[in-house]
Amino acid sequence: MLKRILPATFQLRKGVVASSSINSRKISTFLDSEKRRLVIDTELNSVKEEFPWVWLRDNCQCSSCYEPLAQSRIVNLSEFDQKVKPVKCQVTGGQVEVEWEDKHHSVYDYSWLLERSFRPEQREKFSESVCAKTVLWPANFQENYPTADFNSIMTDDSALLSWLEDLDKHGFVLVRNVPIKQGPVHELQARSGFRRLTHYGEDYVVKIKADPSNLAYTHHRIFFHTDSPFYEHMPGVAYLHCIEQHQGEGGETMLADGFKAAAILKETHPEKYRLLSSESAYFKDIGDDYIKFNSIAQHPPLVHNARGELVKINWNHFTRDSYFDVDIDQVEEFYTAMRCYDDILNDAANHIKLKMEPGDMVTTKNLRVLHGRSELKGGVSGRHLHCGYVDWDEIRSTLRVIREKLKENN
Ligand SMILES: [Fe+2]
Ligand SMILES: [Zn+2]
Repeated sequence: MLKRILPATFQLRKGVVASSSINSRKISTFLDSEKRRLVIDTELNSVKEEFPWVWLRDNCQCSSCYEPLAQSRIVNLSEFDQKVKPVKCQVTGGQVEVEWEDKHHSVYDYSWLLERSFRPEQREKFSESVCAKTVLWPANFQENYPTADFNSIMTDDSALLSWLEDLDKHGFVLVRNVPIKQGPVHELQARSGFRRLTHYGEDYVVKIKADPSNLAYTHHRIFFHTDSPFYEHMPGVAYLHCIEQHQGEGGETMLADGFKAAAILKETHPEKYRLLSSESAYFKDIGDDYIKFNSIAQHPPLVHNARGELVKINWNHFTRDSYFDVDIDQVEEFYTAMRCYDDILNDAANHIKLKMEPGDMVTTKNLRVLHGRSELKGGVSGRHLHCGYVDWDEIRSTLRVIREKLKENN
C-alpha cells in the first residue's frame, strides 16, 4: 500500500531531477542520458532501479497507448521514435511522471515499475510465476510420487490448484478414486482446461484388440515414449484412466522423468546431449481414423527455450521416420546418443512402475515425462483405459486463474 504523499521537488539537470517519499522512503529519479535510462533511487534500497527510455515509451499506460480493458498495447512501434528522450520526470506520491520531447506525457505507478524491474532477481521471480521450477524426480520417487483425489479436484479449487501445481513441478500425479466408468476424463479435461483434439478424435480407448491398428492395442511391451511428436505442437498432458486392469502378470504403467534422464546424459555424455539437442529426426503418423491424416514434423529429441532450458522431449521410436535429415557422418553418433539416453531411461533407478487399479488415473505432462507399459503376460486381457489430452498452455492458464481466484477470496 502506498501511503505518504509528499510534494515532489523538481529540478531539470543531469543529476537528481525529482524526489518524493513513498512509505516514508525518500525516492529520487535521475535521467541518465548516456545510458538512455530512467534511474530510480530509494534511501532504503541501495540497489538502483533502471528503466530504458525506449521501454518506458513503449509501455506508456495512457489511453492513447494502452487499452486497460483488453490489457493490450495499442501503440505501434512505428508510432514513436525509438530514440525518444524524456525532457523531465517527476515523482508524485506513488507515481512517476515522464514528459517526453514529443510532448507525450506518461504516468507509471511506482509499484508497477518495481514489479517490472530489469534486475535479474526480479526477472527470475516473474519467470518462476510464469513456469514453476522443475523438480527432478528424487531417488525415492517410486514411494513418494504425488497423488490427488478426483472428487476433491472436482469440488474444491484448492485441491484443483494443488493437483495442477504438482503436475507443473513433477510432471506426474496419480489421481485416485475416479468413478469406474467412461466419462471422468472429460470431466477432468473440462475442470483443467478443454479437450485437445487429435486425428484420433477427442479421446481414445486402449483395449486389447484382435486387429490392432496401434501397438497399444496389443500385449507387447510399450517402450518409453512421449505421445505424438509428429505434431509441431504435441499434446501437453495425457490423462489415462483405468477402467479395467489386466488380471495376469504385467500391464504396469512405466514412467520416466525425461528431464532427469537428460540431466544425467548432459553430465555423463555432454557431446551426446549436444547432438540430441541440435540434430533433428522426423516423426510421422499416416492413416485414417477421426480423419484421414498425414502428419510429419521434424524435431530434435531435446528441445530448449531461448534461456537454454530444456522444455520438451520428442521421444517416440514407433513413429520416428526412416527419412533422416542428418549429415551422413553424424548418423552413427546420433544412434549412439539415442541408445545412451534410452539406456538411462531404462535404468531401474530412473523410472517408476505402477499397476493402475480400476479408478486410478495417470495424469502426465507429455512434454517432459515418458510413459510405457510392461508386457501383458498370459495373452487375453480385459485391460481397458479411457484416455484424453489437454494442451499444456491451458493447464498453466487454469493454474493462474485458480491461483488468482483463491487470492481474491482470501
Ligand atoms: Fe502413449
Ligand atoms: Zn501514452
